[in-house]
Amino acid sequence: MTNQIEAEAPTATRGAPAPLIAAHDVRKSYQVGRDSVEILHGVSLGVHEQEMVAVMGPSGSGKSTLLYCLAGLEAPTSGGIILAGKPLDALSRADLARMRRSQVGFVFQSYNLIPTLTATENVALPYLLDKAKPPQDLIASTLATVGLAERADARPPSMSGGEQQRVALARVLAQQPQVIFADEPTGALDTRTGELVLAELVRIAHTPGRCVLVVTHDPKVAASCDRILFMRDGLLVRELHDASVDTVAATLAGLGSREV
Ligand SMILES: Nc1ncnc2c1ncn2[C@@H]1O[C@H](COP(=O)(O)OP(=O)(O)O)[C@@H](O)[C@H]1O
Ligand SMILES: [Mg+2]
Repeated sequence: MTNQIEAEAPTATRGAPAPLIAAHDVRKSYQVGRDSVEILHGVSLGVHEQEMVAVMGPSGSGKSTLLYCLAGLEAPTSGGIILAGKPLDALSRADLARMRRSQVGFVFQSYNLIPTLTATENVALPYLLDKAKPPQDLIASTLATVGLAERADARPPSMSGGEQQRVALARVLAQQPQVIFADEPTGALDTRTGELVLAELVRIAHTPGRCVLVVTHDPKVAASCDRILFMRDGLLVRELHDASVDTVAATLAGLGSREV
């Protein structure tokens, strides 16, 4: 197995001079009682435009913490992060908020939908917050892409969890951000919708000027990515390029052993 992994192709960055997401020696500690517990032990990575990169690893290995730091939702304890050309620690709160709204999209497990607004209105919300006119055609076609054409006028309380997740996804897709962060984006979806959503994320990731970073447990999702970063105990321990589902599954299983 090791030989097979080492034989993987070298990094194929598609032409971008600087990565859209760059992390240098990122550490993150949380205060637990009187102790400081370090969760990320020095993570460095780069994600270039037109790249879709997966982060995999056992539960508790620090994937979500890493994603939150890269997205500017949590401040790292030390280390540097550059997102869409901007060093995060140099941004004011207001600039960070503006950047998160206009250049960065989040597909997380909590949906953050407004219960009193329809699906269409929820998808239009980022435009309204930026005082921009919502592109109604794009919003309608995005809702159709995620299989919600018929539910455009429904409000979140009358929707299933899967439907709500798709509204949240449509909101990100319609925003057309440069960088999309996704934490288990297909986890709650049926197979067909999951495939649609994955195809849409891949399509966006491969658009010039954009990239997607996705945390996933699903080897099929990871195998659709250009690169896969494997985490264990707060460190990146392996990287695969253009891997097959079988290689991903084998590598993931191997993470439990001391060999990695
Ligand atoms: N706010 C927090 N305070 C203390 N510990 C945390 C906090 N957030 C996460 N952790 C701990 O950090 C570790 C990594 O968590 P997480 O990043 O959610 O892992 P993953 O997403 O890989 O499952 C876990 O041990 C978790 O308990
Ligand atoms: Mg997590």
